[in-house]
Amino acid sequence: MTAGANLIQAAVVTVSDKGFAGERADESGAALAELLTELGVGSVERVLVPDERAQIAAALRHFADETPVNLILTTGGTGLTARDVTPEATLDVIDRPAPGFAEAMRLLSLEKTPHAMLSRAVSGLRGRTLIINMPGSPRACREQFAMIVAALPHGVEKLLDQSGDCARPAGED
Ligand code: MTE
Repeated sequence: MTAGANLIQAAVVTVSDKGFAGERADESGAALAELLTELGVGSVERVLVPDERAQIAAALRHFADETPVNLILTTGGTGLTARDVTPEATLDVIDRPAPGFAEAMRLLSLEKTPHAMLSRAVSGLRGRTLIINMPGSPRACREQFAMIVAALPHGVEKLLDQSGDCARPAGED
């Protein structure tokens, strides 16, 4: 298990009209839950909501305030179609931006596909919960998760005030 991963309590919010209507299996949500479990995260909460700004925001508030979890990954609804409003719903609920995750994913994803620049994903904090937007395809989720996973455990340590210093992981000096 990765150090610090045991502190992570996570939820995955899948944003998809087709998924919500039962017309498409939630493969990206399943992929993210599997990746979190492999990292050493205990139980991963999941919900599927349609591409509706208020419903997405309500799901984010629920997991951040009531469950609560300290990490929420969303999948879907970050593109350019009129129904893509996951970033707006996320901005509705966060109180502090934490743009590094979305910036890193967009930048590193350009090495995979020029379509990476179509993502409007954002990342930020609601209280002690980190919220990160990811794309809708399972493959893109796996690719982007790999780009940020090295910083997730320490990020959660920091937001929980459970880390003394910011030393680099062993072997990275
Ligand atoms: N990033 C990675 N790493 N791999 C991908 O395949 N797909 C892109 C982009 N980011 C992609 C990616 C595409 S095609 C789109 S439209 C945007 O993410 C937004 O995806 P979404 O609308 O499903 O959220």
